[in-house]
Amino acid sequence: EFHLHPKEVRFASDGAFGKFDRQQLQRGFQVYKEVCAVCHALRHVAFRDLAALGYNDAEVKAIAKGFQVPVYNNGTGEVETREGVATDYFPPVLYAGQGTPPDLSLMAKARHDGPAYVYSLLTGYQDQPAELLKKFPDSKTPDGLHYNPYFANLNLAMPPPLTGEGQVTYSDGTKATVDQMAKDVSAFLIWTAEPKLEKRKQTGWPVLGFLLFATILGYMSYRNIWAGKK
Ligand code: HEM
Repeated sequence: EFHLHPKEVRFASDGAFGKFDRQQLQRGFQVYKEVCAVCHALRHVAFRDLAALGYNDAEVKAIAKGFQVPVYNNGTGEVETREGVATDYFPPVLYAGQGTPPDLSLMAKARHDGPAYVYSLLTGYQDQPAELLKKFPDSKTPDGLHYNPYFANLNLAMPPPLTGEGQVTYSDGTKATVDQMAKDVSAFLIWTAEPKLEKRKQTGWPVLGFLLFATILGYMSYRNIWAGKK
């Protein structure tokens, strides 16, 4: 009863006519890069994939260059790092804190109601309700964990990542409130989990058109074949 369903939240990519809002995806990527990437990897995404968000080649290269990627040295058998290039995938992240930050590439698909869940989780940190403690005195949030009613266990190892307005500075002038950053990064994770979402939705319409056409044609030939026969 203390675990809550994700909040109602809408995204441009929702529904049969859904399309990504590329400005928003870029803002969401910025939040990922400046906030989440410290702990979370994005291993199914290659830097060059970001071109789909509207970045040009030079921008993609510059983004890739900002990441160190591991490479195996055949000569020494050591793993070394070098600056990323466009064809690299986002590198693994070393994390020394409590818990294991999961890879975020498919998070929007992995969790039920994924995008709304991510948004709710990010905006859902709060104090433990007094009622909960009254009912279950032993349920006090353990040290190093954080109470969040959208997380199935109610307590999770991730400290609230979005802490206040202006944590990132958006270049398109959008005000970076916690709510806005949470929505933007959730939208970005819809894209990472399904970059071909628009294509999938758009393919449906010609298919329906064809089925309608085939139905009419079938009906007309039926009328034709049976015409005059009683
Ligand atoms: C878990 C998103 C930033 C550390 C998670 C989960 C999501 C998420 C969706 C999975 C929850 C689940 O299993 O259902 C994000 C986003 C971030 C962000 C979108 C940026 C806005 C961070 C940062 C840290 C961090 C900066 C480290 C300081 C963790 C850890 C877990 C986790 C340790 C595992 C929690 C547990 O299983 O108890 N995060 N995160 N995250 N995140 Fe983050």
